Amino acid sequence: PRSYTITLLPGDGIGPEVISVAKDVLLLAGSLEGIKYEFRERLMGGAALDATGVPLPDETLSAAKQSDAVLLGAVGGYKWDNNEKHLKPETALLRLREELKVFANLRPASVFPQLVDASTLKREIAEGVDLMVVRELTGGIYFGKPRGFGTNENGEEIGFNTELYSAPEIDRIAHAAFKIAQKRRRKLCSVDKANVLEASMLWRKRVLAIAQEYPDVELSNMYVDNASMQLIRDPKQFDTIVTNNIFGDILSDEASMITGSIGMLPSASLGAPASGPGLFEPIHGSAPDIAGQDKANPFATVLSAAMLLRYGLGEEKAAQRIENAVLDTLNRGFRTGDIYSAGTKLVGCKEVGEELMKSVESNVPAG
Ligand code: NAD
Ligand code: IPM
Ligand code: MN
Repeated sequence: PRSYTITLLPGDGIGPEVISVAKDVLLLAGSLEGIKYEFRERLMGGAALDATGVPLPDETLSAAKQSDAVLLGAVGGYKWDNNEKHLKPETALLRLREELKVFANLRPASVFPQLVDASTLKREIAEGVDLMVVRELTGGIYFGKPRGFGTNENGEEIGFNTELYSAPEIDRIAHAAFKIAQKRRRKLCSVDKANVLEASMLWRKRVLAIAQEYPDVELSNMYVDNASMQLIRDPKQFDTIVTNNIFGDILSDEASMITGSIGMLPSASLGAPASGPGLFEPIHGSAPDIAGQDKANPFATVLSAAMLLRYGLGEEKAAQRIENAVLDTLNRGFRTGDIYSAGTKLVGCKEVGEELMKSVESNVPAG
């Protein structure tokens, strides 16, 4: 059988709860398609800080690098919020993305017909939304230098960051986004702030230049403030969106609510072809407000596991098994609190997991 090494990084808060469900589903869907795994579970984030004193132990990083794919829950929590920067759980995540060189973060947001009533938007606005945010993940203001704390000429305390993109960084994410758009509805909207920011002016210039190589894709450019409004006014106008690191972070959380909950959105973070393992994680965080209460929605992580099979391992059939199971579990009415609506069955994270396992087994085709 085909055999893969998967590094699991449950992390903090609801991370371990949702990873436990996703691991079971991954195992079962894989075994039904003749796949074998070696799972390596490693510490990261606050859990690693408490156990080892650092948020990303060398051993965790090397295990991740040596695996075929990495599945992450979430990191962070109140306990570590006031840590120095290098001792923050979030810093560990940024370093992991940087070390794995996963510059392209794919964040699909689709409204499942079963969940239209969970959306905060009106049915006719939300119904049929199917978009993909392609977020640049290893550059921009998250990584730009100079950054830090200091004092200004008046002796006042300051904090500062740098929004910086090189042309090659923009070019590679633009190529990735155009290729994704080609496989979708061939519409790409590049979101920037080119009316104000130099980094965005270069972004727009490079995206327009690269568009010449993709005449079959219809490109539009939008300022980020307008884009955030348009997403709520008429989300169906979007197919593929490409944007920088911070705008992609914000717009994808916004897009998640169109689908009913941030607990539904998966992601895949990919590098150059054959450059090493991809990183797969839900877009949500560790949700400390509901952690340990069996309330977390595991679908985002389970759908991230499907993306791991598809984009990380090329195992399309097993990926579809998982996606079919998600639809079947929703069809059978099982919901966590964040996507609950009248007439459906309110259950916890674990029970959604159990129902998902039955659905994987029965493999009812999507539709
Ligand atoms: P969050 O995404 O953790 O939570 C925001 C809200 O959404 C909360 O009310 C939470 O209960 C709810 N929510 C999130 N995921 C859910 C799920 N699967 N099911 C049901 N409800 C869900 O964002 P936050 O509160 O801003 O951040 C909490 C911590 O997580 C912080 O430490 C932050 O830095 C960290 N964080 C980590 C990641 C990551 O590891 N990738 C992503 C975002 C935030
Ligand atoms: C995300 C998170 C992270 C980000 C944080 C926790 C570093 O919000 O994955 O969306 O900003 O990228
Ligand atoms: Mn985020």
